[in-house]
Amino acid sequence: MDTRKIIIAIDGYSSTGKSTFAKLVAAKLGYIYIDTGALYRAMTLCAIKNGIIDHQNNIDYEKLQKSLCDTAIEFRPTGENGKSETYLNGENVEKEIRGLETANKVSHIAAVPAVRNFVDSMLKRYGEKKGVVMDGRDIGTAVFPNAELKIFMTADPEIRAQRRYNEMVAKGENPNMEDVLKNLQERDYIDTHRETAPLTQAPDAVLLDNSHMTLDQQMDWIITLLEKR
Ligand code: DC
Repeated sequence: MDTRKIIIAIDGYSSTGKSTFAKLVAAKLGYIYIDTGALYRAMTLCAIKNGIIDHQNNIDYEKLQKSLCDTAIEFRPTGENGKSETYLNGENVEKEIRGLETANKVSHIAAVPAVRNFVDSMLKRYGEKKGVVMDGRDIGTAVFPNAELKIFMTADPEIRAQRRYNEMVAKGENPNMEDVLKNLQERDYIDTHRETAPLTQAPDAVLLDNSHMTLDQQMDWIITLLEKR
């Protein structure tokens, strides 16, 4: 196995378990894990709080552009085995950014080119020293087209909705299965159809369909892949 530090780009559909998988891969290799979706979620929360996106998801583009200069997002370690939480302008927003309101609006904010440029420049700084695992939608296609290893994750929509539903129940929420599936399908549509950096499998990405795979099986799969390098 080639032991030089690389960039591992993990892209794919919502609720395919990208972040769980990416975190484990990072821990296994001693790499840093970057949750790029959290940055878009924090940008969205900021837009909600500042009245930049309304109930019908209309966006005030001018106000959004201006607010970018005052938006500081960071990941701060929790002290718990490599875990970190998202901070927006110094405030811990980890819980808020995972809620349904942010989830319903994030694809709209993430489709705005100025927002994507803002997040991309943060991601490029994180990737400078390599040794990172990033999960998102456009990491292997737009942010790091030269990433040494690209993985594209997918799973059946019903299985993904069930996973998301279980996650929300485990957090004490009371979701409606139909709403969860609808939100997932809407996000899939917007993520794959937006003009800037749509979600698509890079030609050199390896496909991982984990509909019927356990996490252990996915780890065995990537270890085999890394060993072949
Ligand atoms: O991975 P996630 O579900 O936390 O991502 C939230 C949203 O952010 C998702 O609907 C699409 C967007 N996103 C993106 O456009 N590009 C990325 N690299 C990561 C996320």
